[in-house]
Amino acid sequence: MLRQSWFRRIARLIERITIPGILVHYALRKKCICELLRSALNNGVTQVVVLGAGFDPLSSELQREFPDTQSWEIDHPATQRHKVRACSETGVERLHFVAIDLSTMGLDRDALISSGFDPTKRTFWIAEGLLMYFPADIVSSLMKTLSSLSAAGSQFAFTFMEKQHHGRIRFDSQTRLVDWWLRTRGEPFLWGSTRSELSEFIQPWRLIRFFDDKHLRDMAADLSDQIIAKGEVICLAAI
Ligand SMILES: C[S@@+](CC[C@H](N)C(=O)[O-])C[C@H]1O[C@@H](n2cnc3c(N)ncnc32)[C@H](O)[C@@H]1O
Repeated sequence: MLRQSWFRRIARLIERITIPGILVHYALRKKCICELLRSALNNGVTQVVVLGAGFDPLSSELQREFPDTQSWEIDHPATQRHKVRACSETGVERLHFVAIDLSTMGLDRDALISSGFDPTKRTFWIAEGLLMYFPADIVSSLMKTLSSLSAAGSQFAFTFMEKQHHGRIRFDSQTRLVDWWLRTRGEPFLWGSTRSELSEFIQPWRLIRFFDDKHLRDMAADLSDQIIAKGEVICLAAI
C-alpha cells in the first residue's frame, strides 16, 4: 500500500492531525534498534527476545543474516495470534512465540525457558513502544525479571517516554485528539521517566546510553527537512 500515492497522502494527513513527525520517528527508532541488535549479534549474542513485538519483522529479518540466532517474541495473546498465523503461512524458523499478558502475569520465566530459552547465554532484549503502557511497578519488576534471566554481557534496548516538566507523559507535538483517543481507548501512557531518574530505576541494569530525536536526526542526513516527533527516547542498558 505504501507504493500508492493516495495512501501516502492519507497517512500524512492522519499524522498531521495526531502526532506530527511520528512516522519518521518510528522509522528511525526501528533503524536505531536494528543497528544496536546487529552490533550485539556480531559480538557474540545468540539469543534475541522481543517483548511486545507486535507486527515488527525485526527478529525474523535478522535471522537470515545470523543463522545461529534463536529468537523469542513475547506479546499479548490478542496481538500475537495474528502474527503466529501469518508466520506459520510464511514458514519462519527459529522464532518462538510466547503469549503473555505482561500487565497481569508479569514475565513467565518457566514459559520462556520451556520454549528453549537459555539464561546462561547472552541475550539481547528489546521492548520498543511497550513500557509506557504499564504502571511503574510493573516496569520495575519486568526490569528485575529480565536481569535475572540475563547472562553477563546481555543487553536491553527499550524505549521510554521522557516525562515533561509538568509531569505529563506524551509526545511534544501530540495533538489533543490523541490525548482523547488514548484516554477513551483505555491506552493512556502510564509510565514515563527522566533521564536522571532512569539509571537508578533500571537497576541492576547498567545504563549505557540514550538515543533521542537529535541522534535519530543524525542517522538520516537526507531527512533534514522533516519533522521528527520528540518525546520517546531509546535507552541501551547492559548487565
Ligand atoms: C505500540 S505496539 C509496539 C509494537 C512493536 N514493538 C513496534 O515497535 O513496532 C505495542 C505492543 O505491546 C503489546 N502489549 C501491550 N500491552 C501488553 C500486555 N499487557 N502484555 C503483552 N504485550 C502487550 C501489544 O500487543 C503490541 O504488540
